[in-house]
Amino acid sequence: MSAAAHDSIPSATGPLLELDNVNAAYGPYRALFGVSFEVHRGKATAVVGPNGAGKTTIARVCSGLVKPTGGKVFFEGADISAKPAFQIARLGISHAPEGRSVFTTLTVEENLKLEFQRALPPSEVDAALGRAYELFPRLGARRTQEAGTMSGGEQRMLSLARVLVNPPKLLIADELGLGLAPIVVDEVFGWLRTIREAGTSLIVIEEEVHRAIELADDVVVMLKGRVDWAGPKDDADDVVSRIMPATV
Ligand SMILES: Nc1ncnc2c1ncn2[C@@H]1O[C@H](COP(=O)(O)OP(=O)(O)OP(=O)(O)O)[C@@H](O)[C@H]1O
Ligand SMILES: [Mg+2]
Repeated sequence: MSAAAHDSIPSATGPLLELDNVNAAYGPYRALFGVSFEVHRGKATAVVGPNGAGKTTIARVCSGLVKPTGGKVFFEGADISAKPAFQIARLGISHAPEGRSVFTTLTVEENLKLEFQRALPPSEVDAALGRAYELFPRLGARRTQEAGTMSGGEQRMLSLARVLVNPPKLLIADELGLGLAPIVVDEVFGWLRTIREAGTSLIVIEEEVHRAIELADDVVVMLKGRVDWAGPKDDADDVVSRIMPATV
């Protein structure tokens, strides 16, 4: 869709998110070249490709951490390309970055409270804490423990609990399985399924391609900063095995 077709009024129809010919760079280094794809409402889109292909850069562009040097990003029909990250977060896009994203010297409960106080009216914070502990009893048992002393899987659980209790419209999950035992990754993907069933759309970036594709409705294959292929999951097998023969 051309940029001219959009206006700034949020739209209830059409894709939830649309990248339209997006370029991005880190200083002189260009990382994305004319990237276009759509994320549909209530669906999961897997973004796959080799290391350095631009997957994390896409995540950063969608959440406003990296500004496109060309092209546009639309969310619910409105151009968000120039909006600061905090405004994009308020619109309902949540970015769970690679690795662990908890405050290591704060306790589990302090981490949760910080997020809920930011995102919710004061009267709803206690109820949100209750929901987080109900969803993840292990966090409840460790509420006074410093987050940095928890295991990798528990820290990932904590960062997801902050999102799950107050689900965004779009969750961008960048390598949530990174460095975790396969059984814990299974658990993480189970949680992603849960929030998608609750209505959150997903962009799933995951080194283990088959896991991402299993969860996905649509697939975007990135290669050297460009979209090599994009389409429904059912059509993706051949493309993915051609691009990433070692991983599928
Ligand atoms: N902060 C940065 N400064 C300079 N170059 C960067 C920066 N972040 C990423 N790049 C470069 O941009 C390109 C795309 O990187 P990106 O992190 O988006 O890849 P990726 O597909 O997420 O890779 P991986 O699978 O290894 O996480 C790479 O060549 C990378 O070196
Ligand atoms: Mg990455």
